[in-house]
Amino acid sequence: MGEELRGDLSGEALPEERGLDDRLRPGSLAEMIGQDRLRENLAVFIEAAHGRGEPLDHLLFYGPPGLGKTSLARIVAREMGAQFRATSGPVLERAGDLAALLSNLEPSDVLFIDEIHRLPAAVEEILYPAMEDFQLDLLIGQGPSARSIRLDLPRFTLVGATTRAGLLTSPLRDRFGWSARLDYYPASDLTGVLARSARLLELELEPEAAGEIAGRSRGTPRIANRLLRRVRDFAAVDREAGPRIDADLARYALERLDVDDQGFDKLDRALLLTLIEKFDGGPVGLETLAAAIGEDKGTLEDLVEPFLIQGGFLNRTPRGRVATPRAFEHFGIEPGMASAGVQRKLF
Ligand SMILES: Nc1ncnc2c1ncn2[C@@H]1O[C@H](COP(=O)(O)OP(=O)(O)OP(=O)(O)O)[C@@H](O)[C@H]1O
Ligand SMILES: [Mg+2]
Repeated sequence: MGEELRGDLSGEALPEERGLDDRLRPGSLAEMIGQDRLRENLAVFIEAAHGRGEPLDHLLFYGPPGLGKTSLARIVAREMGAQFRATSGPVLERAGDLAALLSNLEPSDVLFIDEIHRLPAAVEEILYPAMEDFQLDLLIGQGPSARSIRLDLPRFTLVGATTRAGLLTSPLRDRFGWSARLDYYPASDLTGVLARSARLLELELEPEAAGEIAGRSRGTPRIANRLLRRVRDFAAVDREAGPRIDADLARYALERLDVDDQGFDKLDRALLLTLIEKFDGGPVGLETLAAAIGEDKGTLEDLVEPFLIQGGFLNRTPRGRVATPRAFEHFGIEPGMASAGVQRKLF
C-alpha cells in the first residue's frame, strides 16, 4: 500500500503506537464501545460455549484497520478464560512455522492469526485439518524415506482477522463457525471512545472537544485516539495549557494537523478529487480509477470506498463509481465545472 498516500491519518497502526494501543484497548466486551450487535452475538456464543464446557467455535473478524479486531480477539480469550497466542499471516512463512505453533497449543487456547489473508498457500493447507478435525499432518524426513504422520491436537479456537475478507480462499472462509464484520463507528460512539481514553490518559476532555475530534476520526477508534494524543501535544506545547482540552483548543490543533472537517486522509482525497477532476464525477470503472490514482484496486475497494460510501460521498453504480453532490460540495467544486479546463482545450 502506498506509504506516503496513506499518511498519518490512516487507521493503520504506527510502530510507536503499539504501546498506546495496548493501554487504551478495551479489556472486556462490556468495556468495548459500539459494535452493539456484534458484541451481543459474541456474548451469546461465549455464554453458550461456557455452558457446554467447550471451547468457542473458530471466529473471523473482518473490516478496515483500527476498528477493534485485535482488541476483540484478546477479549474473546479473556472472556473464555483461555490463553491468548498471537501470530500473523506474513510471519508464518513455512508450513513448519504453523505446525510448531499448533503442536504447542493447550486445550481451549485462542490462537489469533492477524492478516490471515496473507497466509501462504502451503501454510493454509495445514490449517484446514487443524481447524476441522483438530489434526495435524506432519511430514517427517526427506526424500524417499519421508513419511507422513498424523497428530491429534487439543481443541482450540482459531480467531482470524483481516482487512481484506475478499482475498480469503473459500475453503478457509468456510471453516469459521462465525464471521463478523466490523463497521465504522458513528461519531456518538467515538465520543464515548474518546471519553474513555481521556480518562485513562488523565486528561479533562470537554464534551464539545470530544465531538470535534470524533467527527474527524474517519469512523475509526484508532484515529480518534491518535488525534486525541496529538491534541494533547498541542495543548502542552503551543498553548501551555493544562490537562484540560476544550473545543477551541481541539479546533486549533486539528487545524494545525490539516485534518479537514470530514477527517479525510490522503487516499480519500485522492480518490474523490481524481473522480471529480479527471472524470467529471464519473461514472468511471474501478480499474480506471485505481490506475489514475496509482493505487491497488482491492485496497480502494476494501479500505477506502466503504467509508466514503457510508458518508454519502461516493456511489457504486453498475456503470462505475460516481462522486455525489456532497463530494463536490466538500471540495467547493461545482458539478460540471471540474473538467471545464479540459473541455476548453478539446473544443
Ligand atoms: N470499541 C472500542 N472501544 C474502545 N477502544 C477501541 C475500540 N475499538 C478499537 N479501540 C482502540 O483502537 C485501537 C485499535 O484497535 P485494534 O488494534 O483492535 O484494531 P484492529 O481492527 O485490530 O486494527 P488493524 O486492522 O490495524 O489490526 C486500540 O488502541 C483500541 O484501544
Ligand atoms: Mg489488529
